[in-house]
Amino acid sequence: MTAMASIPILSFKDIDVVYGGERGTHAVTALKAIDLDIREGEFVSLIGPSGCGKSTLLRVAADLIKPSAGTARIDGLSPSDARLNREIGFVFQDAALLEWRRILANVALPLELQGIPKDKRLARARELLRLVGIAEFENAWPRQLSGGMRQRASIARAMSTRPRVMMMDEPFGALDQITRDRLNLELSALAEREKMTVVFVTHSIHEAIFLSDRVVVMSPRPGRITEVIDVDLPRPRTLAVRETPRFNELCRLGERLLGEGFHD
Ligand SMILES: Nc1ncnc2c1ncn2[C@@H]1O[C@H](COP(=O)(O)OP(=O)(O)O)[C@@H](O)[C@H]1O
Ligand SMILES: [Mg+2]
Repeated sequence: MTAMASIPILSFKDIDVVYGGERGTHAVTALKAIDLDIREGEFVSLIGPSGCGKSTLLRVAADLIKPSAGTARIDGLSPSDARLNREIGFVFQDAALLEWRRILANVALPLELQGIPKDKRLARARELLRLVGIAEFENAWPRQLSGGMRQRASIARAMSTRPRVMMMDEPFGALDQITRDRLNLELSALAEREKMTVVFVTHSIHEAIFLSDRVVVMSPRPGRITEVIDVDLPRPRTLAVRETPRFNELCRLGERLLGEGFHD
């Protein structure tokens, strides 16, 4: 049991990603020598300046791009096998809902693509809408939802296939501060209750500290891991934690590690 628990659910070993460079084009090294192990149930944030390769790292795990060197493993599988097994859920800044489908049908879409029977997939989609707090909007069209509700629907959709790891790429970056605070709080509770493993990208050190067990700080391009902050704040977390000296200390540490000239 202990031995099993110590095997990372997600691991990056010596990952380099170079874009371009074919036929004399300019090559961009986006990531250099990334080593990172993430345990099951862990909430890890990636933080670093724009262009440091945060999205690139998520894309490697999700098999959207192949690394130029190194290996990624998801529950022991290669990214392509993990993709076939739907081990990875993805949430983007733009919820990217299908505007011509009602919310329930949007959330049920991945299960539909898997060939899950209609009654089963709709039951699961309803359960997820309840979980993310928008059950009463199942018959709404995406355009009728606020930005925060669209992101909730997008999270529900990503959870539908019960992925082992949830990748969230600046999911709340376009939301107003009040909605963002609220979703931070709810995501924290949801991740804990569902024992989700989350890799979360954000520009906000406050958001990263609030949500995470560990915050991975990356350098400007080529992206390397420069520091990892262990967030020793108690759980469950409430917004009150943000008033504590420890929270503020960790945020200052994060800001310092990110360096001068980079602001939220
Ligand atoms: N498809 C691509 N082709 C060429 N360069 C890319 C591509 N995607 C990203 N890059 C470059 O790689 C670097 C890292 O990008 P990205 O992972 O999107 O950074 P972040 O998410 O941290 O802002 C950037 O310099 C970006 O311009
Ligand atoms: Mg990005």
